[in-house]
Amino acid sequence: MKIAIIGAGAMGCLYGGKLSTVPDNQVFLLDVWKEHVNAINKEGLCMEENGELLHYHNLTATTEAATVGVVDLVIIFVKSILTRQAVEGNKAVFGDNTMALTLQNGMGNVESIGSQIGAKNVMAGTTAHGATMLGPGKIRHAGVGKTMIGELSGVRSKRINEIAEVFSAAGLEVEVSENVLGLVWDKLLVNVGINALTGITKLTNGELLAYPEIEGILEEAVREGVAVANAKGIVLGHADPVAHTKAVCKATAANKSSMLQDVLNHKPTEIDMINGAVVREGKNTGVATSVNQVLCGLIHYLERERQGIQFDGYQHERTLRHLEPD
Ligand code: PAF
Repeated sequence: MKIAIIGAGAMGCLYGGKLSTVPDNQVFLLDVWKEHVNAINKEGLCMEENGELLHYHNLTATTEAATVGVVDLVIIFVKSILTRQAVEGNKAVFGDNTMALTLQNGMGNVESIGSQIGAKNVMAGTTAHGATMLGPGKIRHAGVGKTMIGELSGVRSKRINEIAEVFSAAGLEVEVSENVLGLVWDKLLVNVGINALTGITKLTNGELLAYPEIEGILEEAVREGVAVANAKGIVLGHADPVAHTKAVCKATAANKSSMLQDVLNHKPTEIDMINGAVVREGKNTGVATSVNQVLCGLIHYLERERQGIQFDGYQHERTLRHLEPD
């Protein structure tokens, strides 16, 4: 299968590397980060896994979608705040029958992709893997988990089964679901519990459970999300999403969540598509989401602080306070 991955971040590289091990696959990584692209093409993709260093050479990285041409499958892995522009900028890989699969975090990706290529070839799913970017051409596979995929219509089509077969052949545990919206919400609730809290505390996923006061906030944030999902009539896949979120914390214990990585790298986060989505949908359905509001506020604060945004007179006053002894 000819496969293009839009967004060669840690997760895009993880899937690209694994899929490139299947002899029948041709894998292309598309990314705007030139140094990273050059490193992959020169040295291969380097993946740290279970203390071992693996090199994947059977894949090509590029910044130019036109050099790849139309593919059978596109997997979209950019941050959800960039989905629309990433698909728009890489239109050259999409043909009439190209399947587009989003495995991204957050709400709104299906709609953003559909707005660029039409809805008929868009499929969605979730991943419970954890991965960390270590530097140009190098990632760490920090947690193993299942990939769930499905057609938006819920039909177990020939094409969704084909994707599942390709994933299995690459050693990625995969399951086809008939309830994609439920899947997206299942994953959203995991991210609601883990991502903002790791970004604020700088703890790894597993460490969140070592502090009862933090664990309590995780539980409340997820419970609010469950209340919103219930109010919207979403059929969740997990009977106990709080317990499931904690299980993901344990399965990806060593991982720095994607939001923590963004905070540490001074990059904009996906907060508005994760906890922010719960707050928005909570307003629409009349469900209180105060814990998620607080988490959004704190992450927005960190984003603004790190971007050095001025707060009119306040920034000045704060600087003076730091300089002058009490
Ligand atoms: O965003 C992330 O980092 C991941 O979705 C997850 C599952 C929380 C693992 O770190």
